[in-house]
Amino acid sequence: MRKRVRRVANVKIPTEAWLAGVRDHAMSIFRCGPTSIHGPLHWQRVENFGLRIAASSGADLTVVRLFALLHDSCRMNDAVDPDHGPRAAEMLDRIVPSVIALDRGRLDLLRDATCHHTSGRTTLDPTIGTCWDADRLDIGRAGITPSAGYMSTAAGKEMTAPRAPRLPNL
Ligand SMILES: [Fe+2]
Repeated sequence: MRKRVRRVANVKIPTEAWLAGVRDHAMSIFRCGPTSIHGPLHWQRVENFGLRIAASSGADLTVVRLFALLHDSCRMNDAVDPDHGPRAAEMLDRIVPSVIALDRGRLDLLRDATCHHTSGRTTLDPTIGTCWDADRLDIGRAGITPSAGYMSTAAGKEMTAPRAPRLPNL
């Protein structure tokens, strides 16, 4: 069976100003407030984790950075909202191209990553896997230890591996 490979057109790296506009849009639709556990501080940490993982996973950086800003932006509350991923995926189609100008390949990846990010699944796609791992690595903010079993990328698994206790210098 032939392996299906997604082709991602080579568009320019997003500028910080462009990403700031996306962030402003995310804040304008986010209902849980600036101090939310799913809010901008979480988005920043997801981006940081994503960029660290992408250094080895080969993920598309534009998709990873947009995922960080948008994946939780359509949450209605900080408790139980299982449809916030699909809702955010639908929202993406409404903000192209006014807020995010993306080629078809990247939009498909971003939509898939966003729609299914709470599924608990893992994936072989390096970009979607990087997005999901980055989000799951920040689960510690809810008092839950990230688990390698929920990681898609080698870097994500490595970042959740238990560390040997450091011995004191004697
Ligand atoms: Fe999240």
